[in-house]
Amino acid sequence: MNPTHPIETHGRPIILIGLMGCGKTTIGKLVSKRTGMPLLDMDALIEEQVGMKISQIFAEQGEAHFRMLETALLRFLAEHPQMPPPIISTGGGVVVRPENRQLLRELGFVVWLNVSPRSLLHRNIRSSNRPLLQTENPADTIYRLWAERGPLYKETAHRILNTSRTEVGEVCRRVCALAERYFAHR
Ligand code: S3P
Repeated sequence: MNPTHPIETHGRPIILIGLMGCGKTTIGKLVSKRTGMPLLDMDALIEEQVGMKISQIFAEQGEAHFRMLETALLRFLAEHPQMPPPIISTGGGVVVRPENRQLLRELGFVVWLNVSPRSLLHRNIRSSNRPLLQTENPADTIYRLWAERGPLYKETAHRILNTSRTEVGEVCRRVCALAERYFAHR
């Protein structure tokens, strides 16, 4: 087994943002394994708290309600720092609300995993937990979301990683290196 390489984050989480399918959960798991920091997957936690799948929340309560649940979770995390600090993998739309963008930046070190829409479309990203992609033309949706949300990810992130053609182990190493450098100066 690979040894863990803890990162001194001064109690603050490392947060991964980016579009659906950019690898937030996969990279989050790897960074968690490498650093020994636990993984907190916002989508999974919301499902657990509400007792419903995301697709069901969207269908029965609407997207706006889901966005409120994301904000409530971020506020809770800001008010109750987790020990040890987690790696947080977010849902792709968490940056849509201005309040969330501010909460994320204040909460921890935010990395945008930026994957081009073209690369995203080569990945198998159409899952039932992504109601926004249950459309006739998911490619159009991905291009539209990338255009709409790109500026929001940029505004929220402390650092950006362009990962369209980078293999996951390397992305994990880069996230850790960026976090080490960021926290070394705090
Ligand atoms: C969403 C992304 C999903 C999930 C929900 C909405 C979005 O998370 O939160 O379906 O608005 O982009 P992933 O990015 O983990 O797929």
